[in-house]
Amino acid sequence: MTSTAVALDNNWETWSPAQWDAWQAEVLTLAEQNNAVILAHNYQIAQIQDIAHHVGDSLALSRIAASTDAEQIIFCGVHFMAETAKILSPTKRVFIPDAKAGCSLANTIDAEQLRQWKADNPNAKVVSYVNTTAAVKAETDICCTSSNAVDVVRSIDPETPILFCPDQFLGAHVRRETGRENIQVWLGECHVHADISPQDLTTTVRNNPEAQLYVHPECGCTTSALWMAESGEFPSDNTHVLSTGGMLDMAKQESADKVLVATEVGMLHQLRKANSRTEFIPVNPEAECPYMQMITPPKLLDCLRNQRDEVFVDEETAAKARGSLDAMISIGTPGGGE
Ligand code: 13P
Ligand code: SF4
Repeated sequence: MTSTAVALDNNWETWSPAQWDAWQAEVLTLAEQNNAVILAHNYQIAQIQDIAHHVGDSLALSRIAASTDAEQIIFCGVHFMAETAKILSPTKRVFIPDAKAGCSLANTIDAEQLRQWKADNPNAKVVSYVNTTAAVKAETDICCTSSNAVDVVRSIDPETPILFCPDQFLGAHVRRETGRENIQVWLGECHVHADISPQDLTTTVRNNPEAQLYVHPECGCTTSALWMAESGEFPSDNTHVLSTGGMLDMAKQESADKVLVATEVGMLHQLRKANSRTEFIPVNPEAECPYMQMITPPKLLDCLRNQRDEVFVDEETAAKARGSLDAMISIGTPGGGE
């Protein structure tokens, strides 16, 4: 076990610079000793993003998890993301600093509900967002993330009916983009993105008529954003529906003075780091994912020191789930990460 001369209590919000230095040094030393790669989702708190070896959206991180040479993967994100890493890298040890970091969207469908839906629609193909459990992925034909959902659906024969789960707003976006009528959409939602409401959007947009607008397709306000663009109330050229990785790619080249951002507020850290000329304004500054925020600096250190919480997926479920993830990864669309 590595020890530090500086005490690191759980009140990390009030740590002194010396405590942060000690934390950083120990995390990096342990990661090297354990041959571990630290992955952080774009919604993690800033300090976790800054210490990670890679930061990205869920697609980019799953690709890194599938290809890394490290013996251990420390996943700073939510449980389904760590589970996905374990499925893609079954011989590696995968850890999450707090296994209770779940996802309200993943909770909206279980494997039994999906089996029933499939039984009612025997000719359909199932497209599941990666924000699902391993058991749901095992019942899925092809997974998708917000950065490749449209391409995944386009890869399926247009005559084949599709069951899309679990996010209704992403599903509506995919239907709109592909023009396909034969997609049934599960009525799940993420409580954080659903709370970025049409009203939040309208107010922010009306106060900033010259700004650019980046909207994550899980948001409850996506349809309103597109309607405002279509009706001419807000310039359609300024309206962009993007995954977190897509937002980052666009921010790097952004020349506007202001960008309005409709997604979880952890994203603002990467956007501001990528582009200090532009002001990034959250559409709902209260949109914080409580599950993402369960991954704290002391928990990351504890994870590395004491090898917990380890993530396991039973081999039968993992083998089936891997098929739907591999099918997604083989579709060569970009996922934003560094
Ligand atoms: P991304 O696929 O854009 O990383 O989003 C994941 C997520 O959980 C959104 O809430
Ligand atoms: Fe799940 Fe929503 Fe949190 Fe993303 S923001 S991890 S979809 S609860």
